[in-house]
Amino acid sequence: MTARLIDGNALSRQIRADVARRAAALTAQGLTPGLAVILVGDNPASQVYVRNKVKACQDNGLHSVLEHYPATLSEADLLSRVQALNQDPTIHGILVQLPLPPHIDAHKVIETISPLKDVDGFHVASAGALMVGQSGFKPCTPYGCMKMLESIGCDPKGKHAVVIGRSNIVGKPMALMLLQAHATITICHSATPDLAHHTRQADIVVVAVGRRNVLTADMVKPGAVVLDVGMNRTDDGKLCGDVDFDGVSKVASAITPVPGGVGPMTITMLLVNTLEAAERAAQMR
Ligand code: GUN
Repeated sequence: MTARLIDGNALSRQIRADVARRAAALTAQGLTPGLAVILVGDNPASQVYVRNKVKACQDNGLHSVLEHYPATLSEADLLSRVQALNQDPTIHGILVQLPLPPHIDAHKVIETISPLKDVDGFHVASAGALMVGQSGFKPCTPYGCMKMLESIGCDPKGKHAVVIGRSNIVGKPMALMLLQAHATITICHSATPDLAHHTRQADIVVVAVGRRNVLTADMVKPGAVVLDVGMNRTDDGKLCGDVDFDGVSKVASAITPVPGGVGPMTITMLLVNTLEAAERAAQMR
């Protein structure tokens, strides 16, 4: 079998066109959706991510501000910036890029963001809403994964989904979203003794570990759908995911590439969340 490619760039273009149309409609009513992105320090990967987020806003008619602070910024100063943005009527979404320098408590910062502006979906109120099935902002990466499944007509209902990775950003919310979509869930992680035993039973595998070749062809049931959240580099410097793409694409029925898979969808869902935050703000005027 040669797997169908789930093209995150093509799906992003479709969704972003809809975002741009709705953003223009809000702007015509005098309310341009606005995202504030805060970067602390000089982590090179974070700099690329935030630049891409800001550019995606600009390209789709959203207002964005990037606040870049030195790694020496105090926690108290960061908290007061977040509080000011909570009160700023031109800002509908606030994103503090992680990781933060070690002297800053990321949980404290995230809990200071108003849940109404928590477009990353990291606040405990957003996580709790997802847990109990209430409406709230969904973390962008797993939200993008759900859209990718939908785009190929893969309904998780009744399927067995295996999520590898248990982070608060991807693994845990991914499992909850699949559960809400009526899949049977297995969450695997670094202490799981026989990973292949679980993945071989999966109709859907989501890999979010951050290490190359975590999932190889022999670990995949023929016809499974494989979503690769990883972002790594090969020895010769090329971008690659967590999945052995060449091998697994011969066994799976559909697979996301890296680059051009989940990555662009993460930013797309950030735009969707920011737009929806602004639409809610417009309704409350
Ligand atoms: N660091 C890595 N991924 C993310 C993300 O989606 N949001 C934020 N704020 N930081 C990150």
